[in-house]
Amino acid sequence: MSVHLEARPGQIAPIVLLPGDPLRAEFIADRFLDGAVCHNRVRNALGFTGTYRGVPVSVQSTGMGMPSAAIYVHELLAAYGARVLVRIGTCGAIRADLRTRDIVLAQAASTDSAMFRATFKGSTYAAAASFELLRRAHDLATEQGKTVRVGSVLTSDTFYPDEAAISTWWAPWAEHGILAAEMETAALYTLAARRGARALSILTVSDNLVTGEQTTAEERQNGFGEMALLALSVVTAHA
Ligand code: HPA
Repeated sequence: MSVHLEARPGQIAPIVLLPGDPLRAEFIADRFLDGAVCHNRVRNALGFTGTYRGVPVSVQSTGMGMPSAAIYVHELLAAYGARVLVRIGTCGAIRADLRTRDIVLAQAASTDSAMFRATFKGSTYAAAASFELLRRAHDLATEQGKTVRVGSVLTSDTFYPDEAAISTWWAPWAEHGILAAEMETAALYTLAARRGARALSILTVSDNLVTGEQTTAEERQNGFGEMALLALSVVTAHA
């Protein structure tokens, strides 16, 4: 047990998928894992452990934003020995050439958050994905004929920008090569690096902030299922 997870020691696998939404954790467990058992109900942050193609895999919901995600990622690493952590979520594209439903593999994550400012004494830290997971995800997604983009994301503390900046805030980030905004990856990569674990964020573009293109709820659900299967293939490929 840790502060926010009630799983017994050994009940969570070294490989953990990390959706934000608890019901999506349940969806993955029901749909794709064999013999899934619920290992966490604390705060309704549902977590399940089962197997995929015979490999033990857990799926733990993280909530939204870095502070929430960091609590679960820290406890998975520090108390349960997680070694491979793959976030599966959505992002808002900040460049016109990305379409909804495209997959973004977050090679690196910049952030507007002050969360790790004290850790690095005001300097910036380049939070980066595991190259091995990134390469595997890229190769599998390409083989499956998916439209996949590899690049940097912005992990933001803000989902709703100030009205005055609503159509401009992303410009400096986009002009420096950032593909999309989301809210958890920089914390995941920073904490995984601290403990020598491997991490990757696999994201589906749910909306484009430049063009205004948006996905329907049905498209988001289908996209999520495909992304979960890609993540499961990535983490079990050489396990
Ligand atoms: N901002 C942050 N996170 C997101 C967005 C966004 O516009 N869209 C999907 N996740």
